[in-house]
Amino acid sequence: MKKLTIAISICIAFLFILQGTAFCNAKGHGDSRAVKKGILLVAFGSSEPEAQVSFTNIGAKVEKTFPGVPVYWAYTSHIIRKKMAKQGKILDSVTMALAKMKDKGFTHVAVQSLHTIPGEEFDGLVKDVKAFSNMNDGFTQILVGRPLLSIQEDVERVVDAILANIPSKRKPEDAVVLMGHGSHHPGNAYYSAVNWQIQLRDSNVVVGTVEGYPEMDTVLAFLKKIKAKKVWLMPFMSVAGDHAKNDMAGDEDDSWKVILKKNGYKCETILKGTAEFDNFNSIWVDHLKAVVDHLPK
Ligand code: CO
Repeated sequence: MKKLTIAISICIAFLFILQGTAFCNAKGHGDSRAVKKGILLVAFGSSEPEAQVSFTNIGAKVEKTFPGVPVYWAYTSHIIRKKMAKQGKILDSVTMALAKMKDKGFTHVAVQSLHTIPGEEFDGLVKDVKAFSNMNDGFTQILVGRPLLSIQEDVERVVDAILANIPSKRKPEDAVVLMGHGSHHPGNAYYSAVNWQIQLRDSNVVVGTVEGYPEMDTVLAFLKKIKAKKVWLMPFMSVAGDHAKNDMAGDEDDSWKVILKKNGYKCETILKGTAEFDNFNSIWVDHLKAVVDHLPK
């Protein structure tokens, strides 16, 4: 079983590297430009000012890990970019950021997805990067780093990080419910992969999602089964943004906190996105390292 898991992991890792290599637009002959390396960090985005701490943390870690390599940012959510533009804050899309980097003469770019699962946002990012990899006078090499959850090792590291970040005040009999985003995309299956492994380590911890599976009803059935009395609610999203503030910890009827209380559970909410924790950021940064290692020294 372990062998099979390793084999599958290697296959997936290999696929990503292949995918990365496919973006290489090795110009070889005639490309006499000096190497100019850059990093592009790509997040979903958030309109909540409190969520910025997540981006600041991971940005600082990336700059420390790759000194001297300029770091650019792009945001995949069209809605967030539109909302922020209304407030006078112009955020770049992936294509806007890559166009700027191309214009500034970058030859080698490592693009890092700061998404949680390889879902719709990640697919869109890959498509945008592919378009740039085939451009005339474009980048010599452009590679994409995997999102938080990709190979089996990521699932294990994510489970470690979740368990390490649970507040020390939580008692073993207390349940911990994490709110993931969720998606109709096949990548949604990663939440169940995390749940399976987390259950082997701590049978009172479960990840639910707002827009995918497992949904709140499944979480409630789980809490009933384990006879929980108190529940710790934490986001499993890079930022503690709108979903965490309102859908998880808000006071409206449909917030998870209110639903849990209505069902008789005591509830503690933690408003901290995963990118506020160094152990999660290390996973993203290691994925970025894996692609930066493929660029010229
Ligand atoms: Co959403």
